[in-house]
Amino acid sequence: MPTLIARNLKSLEKALSSQRIKKKKIGLVPTMGAIHDGHLALVDKCLKLSQVTVVTIFINPMQFNNKKDLKNYPTSIRKDISILTEKKVNIIFIPKIKDIYPSDFSTFIELKKFDNMLCGKNRNGHFSGVATVVLKLFCLINPRVAFFGEKDFQQLFIIKKLVRDLNLNIDVQAVKTVRDKSGLALSSRNRLLSKGEKNIASKVNIILREISLKNLKSIKSILKKTSKKLYSEGVKKVEYLEVRNEKSLESYTYGKLGNNHYRVFVAVKVGKVRLIDNLRLTK
Ligand code: PAF
Repeated sequence: MPTLIARNLKSLEKALSSQRIKKKKIGLVPTMGAIHDGHLALVDKCLKLSQVTVVTIFINPMQFNNKKDLKNYPTSIRKDISILTEKKVNIIFIPKIKDIYPSDFSTFIELKKFDNMLCGKNRNGHFSGVATVVLKLFCLINPRVAFFGEKDFQQLFIIKKLVRDLNLNIDVQAVKTVRDKSGLALSSRNRLLSKGEKNIASKVNIILREISLKNLKSIKSILKKTSKKLYSEGVKKVEYLEVRNEKSLESYTYGKLGNNHYRVFVAVKVGKVRLIDNLRLTK
């Protein structure tokens, strides 16, 4: 099947209905474009685990609380189409804003938990915007399986919760963070970094790796030192640096390690670019 490009709801429905009749297992990779190897890891897993791979490219205005950030978000639609076609994905869905949010659109997902911490703290409404668009894509595409990266761990957590809470029949698959040689987590936003800023961004992961489980007892002072180190390497702002339980997103408190897995979560500003990353601290 050659790659079909659907640029509106009608052509998406046309492309999908024949697959639905054949009862094919549909897999979804939602993206905002500016495709990189991190996205391609999601695509590869989707191609492996489903019979029809749908990749969506939609820069969702609802998840940006800053107009400048939305305006500056990198795009490369032509290149994205060519990369995804080469990968032999089945359908690329590139909706217009009015396809997703018609002028009378008025229904939003409200999160009662997990959106007031980490990335949600300073990005008001971000996860409500993410959950709303992802649910809308789930409704339009009706996938059996959907793929999200661990780099956006809180997003992955919230989508898994959304699927559980609403009893959606969708298997949410997590895909490990893809990093460049220096360890920098791949992100569309990396394109906005100058060479010097990229060097600084590369240090973030290296510094996070120095946090060791053995030292978790004195986590506050370790995070303080880590934060200082990040600033001394040229990071402009450490928005958050926290250790949390990966199953509950609860903060780490000494003595509560048990069999749980903990991750360190970070958001930094390098120049004007906001970057996030996380690492599992427990084996
Ligand atoms: O991770 C992203 O690129 C976006 O948040 C997503 C999941 C495509 C929703 O807009």
